[in-house]
Amino acid sequence: MSRVYNFSAGPSCLPEEVLNECAAEMLDYQGTGQSVMEMSHRSKYYEPIIQDAEAMVRKLMNVPENYKVMFLQGGGSTQFAMVAQNLGIKNKKAAYIETGVWAKKAAAEAKKLGVAVDVIASSKDKNYSYIPKVEKVTGDYDYVYICFNNTIMGTHYEYLPDTGNIPLVADISSCVLSEPLDVSKFGLLFAGAQKNLAPAGVTLVIVREDLIPEVEDCLPGTPTMLAYKTHSENDSMYNTPPCYTIYVLGTVLHWIEKNGGAEGMLKRNKEKADYLYNFLDSSDFFRATTEVGSRSLMNVPFLTKYSVAGSTDEAVLAKEKEINAKFVKEAEAAGLINLKGHRLVGGMRASIYNAMSLEGVKALVEFMKKFAAEN
Ligand SMILES: Cc1ncc(COP(=O)(O)O)c(C=O)c1O
Repeated sequence: MSRVYNFSAGPSCLPEEVLNECAAEMLDYQGTGQSVMEMSHRSKYYEPIIQDAEAMVRKLMNVPENYKVMFLQGGGSTQFAMVAQNLGIKNKKAAYIETGVWAKKAAAEAKKLGVAVDVIASSKDKNYSYIPKVEKVTGDYDYVYICFNNTIMGTHYEYLPDTGNIPLVADISSCVLSEPLDVSKFGLLFAGAQKNLAPAGVTLVIVREDLIPEVEDCLPGTPTMLAYKTHSENDSMYNTPPCYTIYVLGTVLHWIEKNGGAEGMLKRNKEKADYLYNFLDSSDFFRATTEVGSRSLMNVPFLTKYSVAGSTDEAVLAKEKEINAKFVKEAEAAGLINLKGHRLVGGMRASIYNAMSLEGVKALVEFMKKFAAEN
C-alpha cells in the first residue's frame, strides 16, 4: 500500500493512526459485535461515543461551562443561515467583515433572511489577500461576523476585533483546533468538520447559552431543525446525528490530545507553514498570494512566475494556464495530490491541515524546487 500526500482543501487527509484505529474497530467496536456505523444512536453503546466527543471538544478547546457544544448537519453553509435566524432577531441587523467567498456567502444568506447587513470592512480591493484591521465595532448590531480562516484566499486573522458587548461570531471551519483559541471571546463558533476534525457530515457549533433563543423567537419561518434550541436541549440527539462521523471526530480529538492538544497543533502547523512560506518567499519562480501578517497556517495559495498580475494578454494567460496544469499533473504523478488552485486566486493551493505531516510539506517543496529548475 502506498499513500499519497493529500493537499485537499476539504475533505482532507486524516491522521493515519486514526484511519488504522477506525479500520481495526470497523467490524466489532470494542466487543459490541457491531460497527459504529450500524449502531442505534439511542443505544447504550453509542451514547458514550458522542458524550466522549463532546467532552474532548470541551477539554481541547477549553470551552467555558456556559457554552453549548453541538454536533449538527448541513455543513458550514447551513450555519450561514442558522446564525442569522437565531442571532439576528433583536434589531435584525448585523455587521460582517468581508474577507472572501465564505464571508460573502454568509452575509448574503443573512440578507436573504431579512437581516440588515453592514459590511464594516472588506479586503476586496486587493482580491482578499489580507485581513482588514477593525479595531472596535460599535452600533446596534445583533452580532459581528467574521470568517477566521479564509480557505480559498489563504488568509487568517492574527487579531480579534473588539466588539464590546456585541457577540462575535466566527466561522472556524478551516482552522478549528489548529491553534489555541479563547472561546470566551466569542458568542458563537462553528466549523464544518471535514478539514481538521473528521470526514464530511458533521458541523461543530459552540455557542454561549444565553444567546440561544426559544424556537419561536427565531426569525419567522425558521424550521425546528434550524433552531439551535432544538439541538441544545436534546444534546444533539433531537434526530439521528451523523453517528459514524462523530465517532471519527472523537478519535481525531484523541489523536490531537496525544500530539499536544491545541498548543501541539500550533507548533506542528507553524513549522510546516514556515517551511513552505520561507521557500515561497525566497523563490524566484513561485510566490505566495497573501500578505505577511494575514497568512493562513492551513491554506497556502501560490502562483508561478508565469502569472502576471492584471494581465489580459492571451498568450500570457495561456502560458499561465499551461504551467499550472503541468504542475498539478506532475505533482500528482509524484504522489502529491489536490494542489489545483481555486479559480478566484489562480495558481495552486496547498492545504496543510493538522493531519498533514512536515514530511509531506518537505516532499512538496522538493518537488517545487525540481519543477522550478525544469521550467
Ligand atoms: C471557511 C469555510 N466556511 C464554510 C465552508 C462551507 O462548508 P460546507 O461545505 O461544509 O457547507 C467552507 C468550505 O470549504 C469553508 O472553507
